[in-house]
Amino acid sequence: MVVEDDPIVRRLLVSAFQKMGLSVLAVSNCSQAREEQQKEPADLIITDLQLPDGNGMELLQQFKQANKAVEVIIMTGFGTIESAVEAMKNGASNYLLKPFTSSQLELAVNLLSEQKELRKQNTYLKSQLAEQSDASSLLLCSTEMQQVLKLVLQVAPTDATVLIEGESGTGKEVIARTLYEKSLRREKPYIKVNCAAVPENLLESEFFGHEKGAFTGATARREGRFELANGGTLLLDEITEISLPLQAKLLRVLQEQEFERVGGNRTIRIDVRILATTNRNLAEAVKAGQFRQDLYYRLNVVPIRVPRLSERKGEVEYLLGKFLDRFAKQHNKPVPKISSIALDQLARYSWPGNVRELRNYAERAVILSTQETELTYGDIVPFSTSSAGDPILDSGTGFPTLAEVEKRLISLALKKTSGNRNEAADLIGINVRTLRNKLKEYQGQSATDSDADADDEPQEIPSK
Ligand SMILES: Nc1ncnc2c1ncn2[C@@H]1O[C@H](COP(=O)(O)OP(=O)(O)O)[C@@H](O)[C@H]1O
Ligand SMILES: [Mg+2]
Repeated sequence: MVVEDDPIVRRLLVSAFQKMGLSVLAVSNCSQAREEQQKEPADLIITDLQLPDGNGMELLQQFKQANKAVEVIIMTGFGTIESAVEAMKNGASNYLLKPFTSSQLELAVNLLSEQKELRKQNTYLKSQLAEQSDASSLLLCSTEMQQVLKLVLQVAPTDATVLIEGESGTGKEVIARTLYEKSLRREKPYIKVNCAAVPENLLESEFFGHEKGAFTGATARREGRFELANGGTLLLDEITEISLPLQAKLLRVLQEQEFERVGGNRTIRIDVRILATTNRNLAEAVKAGQFRQDLYYRLNVVPIRVPRLSERKGEVEYLLGKFLDRFAKQHNKPVPKISSIALDQLARYSWPGNVRELRNYAERAVILSTQETELTYGDIVPFSTSSAGDPILDSGTGFPTLAEVEKRLISLALKKTSGNRNEAADLIGINVRTLRNKLKEYQGQSATDSDADADDEPQEIPSK
């Protein structure tokens, strides 16, 4: 809607909007504008400041009050900085000084639709995130996990550092997220660093950011995760994987809540709550000299130990039911039925990959199931029920050495995950860096007996 008393300007504006492909309505005073906005509200209003029966600023205030989403552009021939500031304060989307060209007008309108698009995307992404976090919300029924949850709910609203210990796949990240969602910082950022996945030499800059030129490849200043998490929560995932020198730096940040970017000398103060996870026993890592004792004490203010799936009574059946429901919905398939014998067997299985393993098997079972028959144990836990024996032991001649088994296991894991190293590492409960090192090692072995490409990042274990 164009609100303009000068008929020539009004006509020019109308034709400019029409050229942009927008449908436009024009009025010449405040009361008409109010009437039209009542009848059929416009998304965008461009109004003169001085009108015969009032002032564009009042219109702006009224329209914004009625609907915050409406966009109002103020235009005037007598611009002052004060009035521009006032307009922006009242929520004007833009402020145009007369005379302006139609391309200036177009620019202003395009800017608005871009902003609108971004806001829409933002709302969409937020809803996606909410959905996702719902899908990954903490499921439990055992008394063992109820105790964990009780502790989580107790420490969540404090700012205490929390150390979450547990085997791979037990749900440490789900617990960390729950802690965050139940904390007073839930509206603030939640940032995660996977210490095992970031290469050693880049981890410091990942944590603290760097200044331009701090090292080769640092072509621009970059904010680290600590800065991004400011005011909120930072999850240091797999913290046992960081080097001793970086542990020293981390300790200082945790104690003083300040740091410098790599290659910078300005001290940056932050307010961040720290959550950390580890799949190793940290106390033992301290004894072995791999983890600083002072950092351990600092992190270990409130330890939460997550039990193995096999230690949780009744939970295999419960979680399996939940996961089957979820994946059936997700893949548009009927919920598979399971025989009661199978449930019994599943409860006794060791679940070395814990909840992650169960979750993956459940998804697979949903995809492969046909409606007619009940699922058996073997349908759910593949490769494991073996009258045929252990596939790892079976695939060689004689009794294999530990190194051979390790190699076969890694190869099997890579095959199962279609070569995805992160997943393969997760599957067998080692971190991805260890996996990478092993692959390099195997490649080194094979390079001595063949002329295979000396690729830094082997995709597969050489078949030899
Ligand atoms: N109690 C739980 N309820 C729902 N999902 C879970 C639970 N525990 C684990 N999961 C799922 O299992 C997988 C592994 O969990 P994750 O938190 O990444 O384990 P960890 O960090 O301990 O290796 C994820 O897909 C996660 O959503
Ligand atoms: Mg994890």
